Amino acid sequence: MHFPKYRPRRLRSNKLMRALVREEHLSVNDLIMPLFVRPGSSLKREIVSMPGNYQFSVDTLVEEVRELADLGIPGVILFGIPEKKDELGTEAYAEDGIIQKAIRAIKKNVSNILVITDVCMCEYTDHGHCGYIRKDEKTGEHQVDNDETLKLLSREALSHADAGVDIVAPSDMMDGRVDAIRTILDGSGYGEIPIMSYAAKYASAFYGPFRDAAESPPSFGDRKSYQMDPANAREALREVSLDIDEGADIVMVKPALPYLDIIRLIKDTFEYPVAAYNVSGEFSMVKAAHEKGWIDEKNVAMESLMGMKRAGADIILTYWAKDAARWLKEC
Ligand code: PBG
Repeated sequence: MHFPKYRPRRLRSNKLMRALVREEHLSVNDLIMPLFVRPGSSLKREIVSMPGNYQFSVDTLVEEVRELADLGIPGVILFGIPEKKDELGTEAYAEDGIIQKAIRAIKKNVSNILVITDVCMCEYTDHGHCGYIRKDEKTGEHQVDNDETLKLLSREALSHADAGVDIVAPSDMMDGRVDAIRTILDGSGYGEIPIMSYAAKYASAFYGPFRDAAESPPSFGDRKSYQMDPANAREALREVSLDIDEGADIVMVKPALPYLDIIRLIKDTFEYPVAAYNVSGEFSMVKAAHEKGWIDEKNVAMESLMGMKRAGADIILTYWAKDAARWLKEC
């Protein structure tokens, strides 16, 4: 038998010893809570596919955001379900659109939390795609027109800035959108508003429950022509470096758990804050398995969030943000 002098178990013998040598720490400061808002009042509709998450109206949203701020959560990211959808996603950039109203109400009533907005067209277009759809004359196929979409996205980001947003987060994956948004914000006196870009966003089946929550599934086709192929890692580096060149302040990887290697790669390659989006499918499968009594939600959630931290995430967008803030206080 060989007994080495160093025995790792010595440092695991009790709680204090483990705390002493712990390498990573998850903190409430790392967490951002995604929230859904729709027209109406006094609404708090549970999202069937995402238990414990709701579609709020602006008034109940403000209450929720106040609670999150009191728990010490530094930011929320807002998704809107508009009054009506149309071909050009008009409500995405309307002055009195649902998100614009929500930003104003939060800013007026809650002071100690950052309001981040998802800048995308898919929740606002009747076809559910992330941009302007053009029919290709030759093939007869419908395709998202990249450059026309940039105009809509910049208008959307500007309208959020006018309403008082703290950070904008473009999630559409059109080429050149960070540059387009940076240019319009800078030109309108909003040079101080940071851009958190969904830089490496994969065409993922893990967004399933979200599309129910935001009522935004594409009515035809899929998003593979603009979101990334799950097989590609080096392409993520190209996407991130383009976004940084165009002025992104924070770069995001989405989803998180199946892409921890991508988080690490980006963290090691660029000296920029990295955000990980722990998406709806990652959340809902744990909820479902917990409801069946197969796994313990709290422990699985905290282990997952720690995994994202260890992989290099500085910021984690997660539907567990509120629960995790409470769980962190318990331990
Ligand atoms: C696009 C957007 C999506 C998500 C965040 N922003 C949907 C998509 O790209 O299909 C998904 C988030 C999640 O699944 O939790 N506006």
